[in-house]
Amino acid sequence: MMRDLYTQVIMDHYKRPRNHGEIEGADLHEHLLNPLCGDEVMVYAIFDGDRVTDVKFSGRGCSISQASASMMTERLVGKSREEVEAEISGFKAMMVGEKEFPEMDDLAALKGVIQFPSRIRCATLAWNAFQRGLEDQV
Ligand code: FES
Repeated sequence: MMRDLYTQVIMDHYKRPRNHGEIEGADLHEHLLNPLCGDEVMVYAIFDGDRVTDVKFSGRGCSISQASASMMTERLVGKSREEVEAEISGFKAMMVGEKEFPEMDDLAALKGVIQFPSRIRCATLAWNAFQRGLEDQV
């Protein structure tokens, strides 16, 4: 039922990751390691002025980390820097149960991860990498 659907959404992003790859000469390029498992993610973004025009990710990790990274790229493309920051802090708030997950959105598939504290780090890995990348840019 709902849980199966969520699993399907995660597996779909895992098997067919959106915006997977690298961007040569990206304006934002950050790498982050999950110390709990040794998996790592790289995120890349191109900015046109204040706006993100392209986002990609690469690296390796579990299905949750990869699916979440894939979903993140879809959400951040086209957003302003301020909107991107709001997306990231909003998602992190969802993952600690402080904010509702959006309905009818792939992100909702990650809701169940909240019950597994050690996996929250998987789900937030790419988002934390992107946030760090933003901080490094300033
Ligand atoms: Fe390594 Fe999830 S187990 S990122």
